[in-house]
Amino acid sequence: MKQRKPIVIANWKLNGGLDLICTSVASFIGKHFAAQIAICPPYLYMRDMLTFLQYSELQIGSQNVSRYESGAYTGETSAQMLKQAGCSLCLIGHSERRAMFAENNEGCQIKVRTALNHELLPVLCVGENQQQRETNITEQVLREQLRGGLTGIDLHGKDLCIAYEPVWAIGTGLAATPAIAQEVHQFIRAELTRIFDEATANRVRILYGGSVTKSNARDLLQQADIDGLLVGGASLDPGHFVAICEQASELAEIDD
Ligand code: PGA
Repeated sequence: MKQRKPIVIANWKLNGGLDLICTSVASFIGKHFAAQIAICPPYLYMRDMLTFLQYSELQIGSQNVSRYESGAYTGETSAQMLKQAGCSLCLIGHSERRAMFAENNEGCQIKVRTALNHELLPVLCVGENQQQRETNITEQVLREQLRGGLTGIDLHGKDLCIAYEPVWAIGTGLAATPAIAQEVHQFIRAELTRIFDEATANRVRILYGGSVTKSNARDLLQQADIDGLLVGGASLDPGHFVAICEQASELAEIDD
């Protein structure tokens, strides 16, 4: 039986606008979810979303966080600012940021630490690309990302999420099968045991991301080590995203 509360996070990336905010928030009004649900809109829209939060159980997350606290860092947004604005969590090291904005494991580790210091839930994203999978170095890549991103992190009394997002599955419509995802999640949990300890590894939630839809969400979530979902494209359709959240909540209730 799963002991960890399921979590579903929408990653809007550089998409959406006021219309999507209104329709998304409206789809959540009056609904209760046993799973934890968050939306990561572009920074500019966070405040707009937060004004509606009193009417729903939605949380707001950010797609990134600065490694710096304050100062001459043009274009950055700090963890403290996000926390003060009402943000609950932040994605760190999404593969698009690693590939296009030169994020590395060391930078991710600083961001994880900064997020924890400001009581934001860090969601560290890891995942291999197609070539790495084909050359059988998936575990090596994940080990480096996890060790690099978590070295020296103290999780006493704090929560952490890992999002396993195979790059080959992101935006391609080719989600990992539940069996493949479970195998990798199990590896990630074993690696977390080595980095922290068994009790800590057992409470870290590991999300799957990459072409999640309402058609594959349930099967993925039923796997023992899949504790949540990170949803890109399908989260831009509010009805579709709500359907995924409902599936996660049903499983949470069963697991209770
Ligand atoms: P996708 O994106 O659901 O569109 O594949 C997931 C992500 O990049 O977080």
